[in-house]
Amino acid sequence: MTTIQLTINGQGKTIQAPPMKRLLDVLREDLHLTGAKEGCGEGECGACAVLINGDLVNSCLVHPIQQCFLEEGGAQCGICTPGMILATHHLLDKYPQPTLLQIQEGLNGNLCRCTGYMRIFNAVQQAALTGVAE
Ligand code: FES
Ligand code: FES
Repeated sequence: MTTIQLTINGQGKTIQAPPMKRLLDVLREDLHLTGAKEGCGEGECGACAVLINGDLVNSCLVHPIQQCFLEEGGAQCGICTPGMILATHHLLDKYPQPTLLQIQEGLNGNLCRCTGYMRIFNAVQQAALTGVAE
């Protein structure tokens, strides 16, 4: 479980949630805010749209490990990103503070055509440092 602090609709909230839990589910299940709906569940329909710091995002796609990929530039076209995030979650379950070699081995079944991998490795290191998979 990860402790997440957020300000939502102007109110500070603290919740405990697994790192793979989507923002959409946190909003609906933990915070009982049911305005955002699940439609496609894969970022295409916009039924789950919310504003994060003024940016429009689809909340069905947002969770803490993914945020590290976004902040470190570890996602470009996004095709590999769901698999990379799952592989990262699995890796960090086994090695909460992985070495670069462990990261490379942990993700070696996942192909990315875009990033050149270093940004992805940086995102995994950032996820480990911030403890989002604990
Ligand atoms: S549920 Fe369709 S974009 Fe999120
Ligand atoms: S971001 Fe495009 S394949 Fe990885």
